[in-house]
Amino acid sequence: MVAASGNRSLWPMEVAATTEALSATGADTIAVGLFEDQATGQTGHGVVDALVRRGEARPKFGHLAVAHEQGHRLIVVGLGERGDFGPERARRAAAVAHRRAAELSTRTLCWVVPPPGRPEVVTGLIEGTLLHAYRFDRYKPAAEDRPALERLLIAGTEDFSAQAQEAAIVTTAQNRARDLGNTPGNDLPPVALSAYARELAAEHETISVTTFDGNEIRAMGMGAFAAVAQGSAESAQLIQIEYEGPGAGASRLAYVGKGITFDSGGISLKPPATMHEMKFDMLGGAAVIEAIAALAELGVPIRVLGLVGAAENMPSGTAVKPGDIVRALDGTTIEVNNTDAEGRLVLADCLSYARQLGCDEIVDIATLTGAVGIALGSLYAGVMANNGDWAHRVEEAGMRSGELVWRLPLHADYAEMVKGRYAQLTNRAERREAMAITAAELLHHFVGDVPWAHIDIASTAWDVPRPYFVGKGATGFGVRLLVELARARAMAASAG
Ligand code: BES
Ligand code: MN
Ligand code: ZN
Repeated sequence: MVAASGNRSLWPMEVAATTEALSATGADTIAVGLFEDQATGQTGHGVVDALVRRGEARPKFGHLAVAHEQGHRLIVVGLGERGDFGPERARRAAAVAHRRAAELSTRTLCWVVPPPGRPEVVTGLIEGTLLHAYRFDRYKPAAEDRPALERLLIAGTEDFSAQAQEAAIVTTAQNRARDLGNTPGNDLPPVALSAYARELAAEHETISVTTFDGNEIRAMGMGAFAAVAQGSAESAQLIQIEYEGPGAGASRLAYVGKGITFDSGGISLKPPATMHEMKFDMLGGAAVIEAIAALAELGVPIRVLGLVGAAENMPSGTAVKPGDIVRALDGTTIEVNNTDAEGRLVLADCLSYARQLGCDEIVDIATLTGAVGIALGSLYAGVMANNGDWAHRVEEAGMRSGELVWRLPLHADYAEMVKGRYAQLTNRAERREAMAITAAELLHHFVGDVPWAHIDIASTAWDVPRPYFVGKGATGFGVRLLVELARARAMAASAG
């Protein structure tokens, strides 16, 4: 056996906050920032000032200088202009500092929170460090590597313990989503993803998980979902996760994730050059699972319904064929004119099912279209919504979490483009334009009036060039956003 699939890995880095004097923290390396307005060498820290005067330490963003004092190392990190410094720069600064700290075999790293100590900067420092420290090497022989960072301390004049603990929980969940994404299709078929979700339920009293297999999915009437899975030897899984936090009100938020554990395209086979990347096609589902895991660990007072449509999209003698007409759970007929537009078929039935089970708002998250990357690149995910207020709340959660989303329009004329010739809808619009939007319009048909936002993460979910993502692979995009959205909603509910 190559690897234990579906096991939630432990991220053993300990994260804590301290208000103690730096020398008392026991850290072997201390990271301290330098802003442009400190470039005259008057930080009040003798060793830092000396480095500045010698021109070794510079305030240019990301510049590093290293020195030793009183039995520990000091890394001076250029932070640029004070006014430009915020959570994203904190993540990036933490990443470059962690890289150097790791090269120096640091065991305990202590970051001095740049004054004024803003909680969101504390969160950014922790996120940047943990994301940069992430490795996916379980398929490689254990290297005789340098010791990895064991402890991260956040030193401030205020006590940031709660902030530190929460940031560690959420970022660990994001790293776990990256693990799920990076795991290849052979080790993470739909049944492994559902076993993983059931493990979560075993760990948390506030989570319950019910799963349905391919036969049950068909018997329930989800003909669109079932059609996608019918070409594969791997059974589909509908993963239903219910979270009820302590003190949650009656209303319920639904998170729906695309969980295609491998997308070959089916009979409309993808070209071989980048087909291997389609093991990442379940990262929307992973974000849903891990966001809910984090909400449970944080004990957020909210009710969340998570639905992950997990299937493998494969060509075979039993596969769905171009031109086939399938009947979705709500009775809508859909022409399958391109078997590679499978995500929307799976999501269509999951969205109808979310409405059947009852929910007050819906967010779906999916690696749905290559087109979203043409429009927005890897910085912003696309968001499309039937409700301006809900879209706005998703955008705001994106900004606060640093997982940015940009709204693309829906319009009756776009909806017209997914009307079918022989059935009510087609899964592939004929005109090759606005393809992120026409995919969303197909989903739109199934959500009715429930406030709904669809997040297309096809270009933000993996291979994103950022200082805190090392190399290629899954980013875990969406975990932080979905956690933030639920927390904000819980806060609003308790205030109202
Ligand atoms: N999983 C893909 C979307 C995708 C493509 C993500 C490339 C990341 C990189 C999805 O199932 C798909 O194949 N979409 C097609 C839809 C088309 C056939 C209408 C696409 O975007 O090309
Ligand atoms: Mn596809
Ligand atoms: Zn896909």
